[in-house]
Amino acid sequence: MIEHAPAVLDVRDVRKTYAGDVEAVRGVSLSVARGRLLVLAGASGCGKTSLLKMINRLEETSGGSILFGGEDIDGMDPVALRRRIGWVMQGDGLFPHMSVRRNVGLIPQLAGQDPARVELRVREMLELVRLDPDEFGERLPAELSGGQRQRVGFARALAGEPELVLMDEPFSALDPITRDGLQQDFRALQAELGFAAVMVTHDMAEALIMAHEVAVMREGQLVQRGTPRELMASPVDDYVTGLLETPRRQVQAIAELGR
Ligand SMILES: Nc1ncnc2c1ncn2[C@@H]1O[C@H](COP(=O)(O)OP(=O)(O)OP(=O)(O)O)[C@@H](O)[C@H]1O
Ligand SMILES: [Mg+2]
Repeated sequence: MIEHAPAVLDVRDVRKTYAGDVEAVRGVSLSVARGRLLVLAGASGCGKTSLLKMINRLEETSGGSILFGGEDIDGMDPVALRRRIGWVMQGDGLFPHMSVRRNVGLIPQLAGQDPARVELRVREMLELVRLDPDEFGERLPAELSGGQRQRVGFARALAGEPELVLMDEPFSALDPITRDGLQQDFRALQAELGFAAVMVTHDMAEALIMAHEVAVMREGQLVQRGTPRELMASPVDDYVTGLLETPRRQVQAIAELGR
């Protein structure tokens, strides 16, 4: 595997044991370079969200190390770290009492940018996710559709010019057409802006379509990491084969219809 650029994120043998001896993550290593999207897949409870939370220090690791831009995050101020990382969660994670404009401008504002510059950034971000700032800027999240809210969530995550974007099932609440549109828009955004990204999804079709690389987790461990093509060609075990079964069957069923 050729790495095209130095890693933005380097996770080394990371572990997480919660109170009560729950071993949620048991020695995971992975890295993500600039402009690359790594998808984390695997069954419910296998430790995906725990891993994301350790990367932006919402949870502390129980072992191993995480390097961000070559620097160990343990030695970094958590707030400063989070400002360099965009976070897109399931649902959208917007502040319900704040307008779209304020939600998107939050990070640049907290970073101390002057109001005119924040406003410019907000407009730029909303346009990037294809929402008209004049039409949507003053609305509250409750006054938007789910897909529009998710777009605002992306705009907010990207507004601070993050080097890394972490996403936990960002598309799961959306209808298939909105989802398809946003998936494509996200890839285009990433190509344009060049940040590294880690996305958690349960949807293997989504993983295969969007990822540069897929990392499959099972019970806190990484069972396989590879390009979508590598995974399809040679799944390492029955678990990975099983995960790939659904998209395979769907593709076959649709192909049958065309015969
Ligand atoms: N704060 C916590 N305290 C104790 N155990 C936890 C905590 N958070 C998660 N766990 C446990 O750690 C394991 C991994 O949870 P995690 O949320 O990382 O899984 P996941 O892969 O994101 O699952 P899902 O796909 O359902 O979101 C689970 O067994 C879960 O019950
Ligand atoms: Mg989760």
